[in-house]
Amino acid sequence: MSGHGTPIPMTSTPCGPLKGEAHVPGDKSISHRSLIFGAMAVGETKITGLLEGEDVLDTAKAMRAFGADVVRDEDGTWHVHGVGVGGFAEPDNVIDCGNSGTGVRLIMGAMASCPITVTFTGDASLNKRPMARVTDPIALFGAQSVGRSGGRLPMTIVGAADPVPVRYTVPMPSAQVKSAVLLAGLNAPGETVVIEKEATRDHTERMLAGFGADIRTEETEEGRVITLTGQPELKPQTIVVPRDPSSAAFPVCAAVITPGSDVLVPNIGLNPTRAGLFTTLREMGADLTYENEREEGGEPVADLRAKFSPDLKGIEVDPARAASMIDEYPVLSVVAAFAQGDTVMKGVKELRVKESDRIDAMAKGLRANGVEVDEGEDWWIVKGLGHGNVPGGATCESHLDHRIAMSFMVMGMATQQPVSVDDGGPIATSFPIFERLMGDLGAQLSSAAK
Ligand code: S3P
Repeated sequence: MSGHGTPIPMTSTPCGPLKGEAHVPGDKSISHRSLIFGAMAVGETKITGLLEGEDVLDTAKAMRAFGADVVRDEDGTWHVHGVGVGGFAEPDNVIDCGNSGTGVRLIMGAMASCPITVTFTGDASLNKRPMARVTDPIALFGAQSVGRSGGRLPMTIVGAADPVPVRYTVPMPSAQVKSAVLLAGLNAPGETVVIEKEATRDHTERMLAGFGADIRTEETEEGRVITLTGQPELKPQTIVVPRDPSSAAFPVCAAVITPGSDVLVPNIGLNPTRAGLFTTLREMGADLTYENEREEGGEPVADLRAKFSPDLKGIEVDPARAASMIDEYPVLSVVAAFAQGDTVMKGVKELRVKESDRIDAMAKGLRANGVEVDEGEDWWIVKGLGHGNVPGGATCESHLDHRIAMSFMVMGMATQQPVSVDDGGPIATSFPIFERLMGDLGAQLSSAAK
C-alpha cells in the first residue's frame, strides 16, 4: 500500500537471532537514472535489477509522459526506447513524482533545456521540500519556473527554447542538484561545468560516460570540477542495477544490534560515494566484513556479512563522510542507541530537508523510546544506553518517510518492548519487500497490510 493512502500502522517486536541471506532490491539512485538516461538515448536501453518501488515507478510513468516507450517484461527486464537528447514531448498532464525528490529534481533538470512546459507535483512530503535549489541553476540555462511560496511544488517549468551552457557551483552537498544541472547541460550547446565542493554520489557522471557523453571530472582546489559537452547522441545501454547499499543498511544494522545474528547481504555496491555507513559501523566496533570483493559494471561490489556486535561504542562520525552516508543517519542513530556512550553526528544540515526533517523525526521517536538525544541545526548527539538497555515501547511518527519507518522497525528488534510506527506505507517507495525480507531473517514485524 502506498504512503499516499490509508496509514498502515506497523510494529516490530523484539526477536531472536536474525539469520540467512538478505537479497535487497536494486539501487534507487541508479534505477531513476537508468530510466531517465534511457529515455534520453536513441534506441533501446535494457535494464535488469531495477528497483520496482513506488518512487522509481513514478519516474517510469513520467518518462512515458515525455514520449519514451517504457515497458516491463514478465521476467522483470525493463526496456526503454528513448527519444534522444532534446526530444522530450510536452506531457498532456501534470507529472506526479509521488514521494521522490530524486525523481522530480532529475526530471526538472532534464526538461529544463527543452522547449516544453511541464507542471510537477508530488505527495504531501515532496510538496514541502525545497525546489529553488534546482530552479535557481536551471534559470541560468534560460528555464522559467513558477511554484508555490518558498519554491515548493506544485510548480510549472517553462523549458529554455535556446538554452545556453552554464558554469555552476552547487551551494550544498547534493547529488540531485549536481545531476539536474548536468542533465540540463545535455541539451545546451558547448560545455556545462558543475563544481561541487564536497564529493557526492557520482552515478550520474559514471552513467553518462557509459551512455557515451563526453564528461570528465577533475579534482581541483575549488573541488570536483565536472565538464560536460552538450548535445551528444546518447547510446542505449544494457544496465544491470546493483543492489542498494542504502537498503542493505537495514538488515546490516538489524543484525549488528540483534543478539546472535549472522546475516549475509550479497552483491552490494560499495562505491566510495555511498559506503560511509559501513566504515562508520566498523569504527563503532561492528562485526561487519566484506566477502568476495570484486568489480562489476565499473563499480566495487562485495557481499556484506554482519554479525551481532555486543560491544558497540559511540563515536564522533567524521563530517567529511556525511555525503557518502546521508541517507543512513536515521538507522545509524538506532545503532547508536545500542552503543555505549555518545555518537556525535555533525555537518548534517541536509537531513532536515529530506522526505522528512530526519533529525527531528528520529530525535522524537528515539526519545519516546527512552533514548536521550541532543540536537542543533546541523548536528545531533545520540546518548547510547548499551546493548539490552534500550526500553522501546512507543509508537513513532514516520512523517511519510520510508527510512524513518524502517529505522524504527529495526530498533524494535532489539529493544525491551516493541516499537511501532503510525504508518509503514512509505516503505513501499524504496524497499517494497522489506517486511517479508526481514521476516524471513527472523524479525517479528506485523502490519495491517499482508
Ligand atoms: C540522491 C541524492 C541524495 C539522497 C537521495 C538520492 C540521488 O539527495 O538523499 O536519496 O540519487 O542523487 P541529495 O542530493 O538531496 O543529497
